[in-house]
Amino acid sequence: MRQKMVAGNWKMNGTTNSARELISGIKAGLDGPSAEVVVCPPFVYIPTVATEIAGSAIKLAAQNMCDKDVGAFTGEISGPMLKDSGCEYVILAHSERRAMFGETDEVAARKYAAALNNNLKPIFCIGETLGEREQDITEDVIARQIDAIINAEGVASLANAVIAYEPVWAIGTGKTATPDQAQNVHAFIRQRVANLDAGIAESLRILYGGSMNPGNAADLIAQPDIDGGLIGGASLKADDFLAIINAAG
Ligand code: PGA
Repeated sequence: MRQKMVAGNWKMNGTTNSARELISGIKAGLDGPSAEVVVCPPFVYIPTVATEIAGSAIKLAAQNMCDKDVGAFTGEISGPMLKDSGCEYVILAHSERRAMFGETDEVAARKYAAALNNNLKPIFCIGETLGEREQDITEDVIARQIDAIINAEGVASLANAVIAYEPVWAIGTGKTATPDQAQNVHAFIRQRVANLDAGIAESLRILYGGSMNPGNAADLIAQPDIDGGLIGGASLKADDFLAIINAAG
């Protein structure tokens, strides 16, 4: 039985005060959740959030990391630093990183390897653009993106990772994939992994991301291969985030 996960990707939003307020709002409303709850603040707020969540069920993730562990890489943040700061997870290969910061499949695979080497669990993002969906090549894109990490690190590495399917056309647009559309891609992902290792596929958590909100979360998460959500906009309001956590379980 896969434990559901609800992860809040705060992206580049907030202040020290708003981060504190958001965490205290989430903590106040958490009612022994059956889902695993993760927050992903900007790097500079990780220490503040780590302090605020101490003793709660909330876990900490970063939104990105460097593929190198230490050295002359101005402006970068390494896996050992994230581990040292209390992170258990790290979002990798988010479509915003792929589209705006030049992260190729190859870079994404290097970061995936570095995260695992540092005992950080990747929340590895994959997803097609609107153009790719319209050309009917969604499965080709998804296959290429997942194969990039399987070919580099082996299918067994997915035992320590989470996949987030985020159709790019649904991120921050208010347009959500229908439960059927999302389920089809999630099932495709699980089957692709199952072709290599049925046991890993069965235990692999595959989150949906892209305009998930309190109104659509329950129907999406009710699908057999959707194991929770990676939430952007709706994770910035404690009430909305809590409603999604409750919808998960
Ligand atoms: P959204 O973002 O919920 O605002 O669409 C999701 C994400 O990018 O992780």
